[in-house]
Amino acid sequence: MSTFFQEQNPNEALNNHRLQLEYLLDNNIAEDDGKDIIEGLTQECKTISPRYFYDHEGSQLFEKICELPEYYPTRTEASILKKSGQEIAKITGKVEIVELGSGSATKTQLLLDAYQNLDYPLYYTPIDVSGGILQESANSLLTKYPTLKITGKVATYQQALSKLSYSALSQRICLFLGSTIGNFNPSECDRFIELITNSLSVGDYFLLGVDLQKSIPVLEAAYNDSQGITSAFNLNILQHLNWRFDGDFDLSLFEHHAIYNQSENQIEMYLICQSSHNVKLAALDLIIEFKEGEKILTEISRKFNLQEKSVYLASKGLKVNATYTDNKHWFGLLLCQKI
Ligand code: AVJ
Repeated sequence: MSTFFQEQNPNEALNNHRLQLEYLLDNNIAEDDGKDIIEGLTQECKTISPRYFYDHEGSQLFEKICELPEYYPTRTEASILKKSGQEIAKITGKVEIVELGSGSATKTQLLLDAYQNLDYPLYYTPIDVSGGILQESANSLLTKYPTLKITGKVATYQQALSKLSYSALSQRICLFLGSTIGNFNPSECDRFIELITNSLSVGDYFLLGVDLQKSIPVLEAAYNDSQGITSAFNLNILQHLNWRFDGDFDLSLFEHHAIYNQSENQIEMYLICQSSHNVKLAALDLIIEFKEGEKILTEISRKFNLQEKSVYLASKGLKVNATYTDNKHWFGLLLCQKI
């Protein structure tokens, strides 16, 4: 494997001419780092923001989740992109592809294929908070797509969107896949969509992936897999806090629990305390009391109705040009355009 990599070196040097990475995460973030943790863990119903899932270990566990037999969203969304990518590319015409939370960019390739098949120029702007994953995926994409040019940003969505330079092409499509929007509660979702409409120009496209409402057993199995990967993913958030804030969470004193809340149409992921104890986060000067049976909410994952989402986006200034779904109607893609 490493020999193969050596032989590719000339290519990689060549690739670098087509790759620009901008690092926007700065120390301002570190300064108020943990404020949300203090807030979340000192309130009546304890919460930890799901953004703390994605350290190195957590990102790897998430990649594993995406391959679980019970976790249908990733492969279902990929099947829709594979089937409908060409039609999406035809509707948008030549566009710069901007992606929020690009991660490993596996699904993005299905769209790049579609644009390439139409002989369109390939400009890709991935945005992710993880510089390592961004660099890795950028390099493998450049080798795969000889005409591709990448201008990546290691940044939060806010930072990156407020700094979109004028598009290499006259229009862009902004991708937000994987139903990550399901992590936002309704008011966070409003604010996020506002950020999108404020950052895009009139005529720009927005492609949104949303997980759809379906039978409860299917939903609950997806977040309680039989191999316990989701449980490890959930518990790892405590490990992350230990590392980041000099904490002493004992992972064996918490248990993973995911249920579907039918009235809110959302999966709720909890860590349930198994016996009363205190936890210290030294770097935050914080001691937290836990009672037996007490829960920490680590994630909501909202499930949507495609029609309702369409109406919602239209009300926010994003006209829906087309929607796509799979045979079982388990996942949806909305192609919208800023008006
Ligand atoms: C990445 C937020 C879309 O909600 O399904 C997967 C994260 N959590 N299994 C989701 C997740 C547990 C995932 N999102």
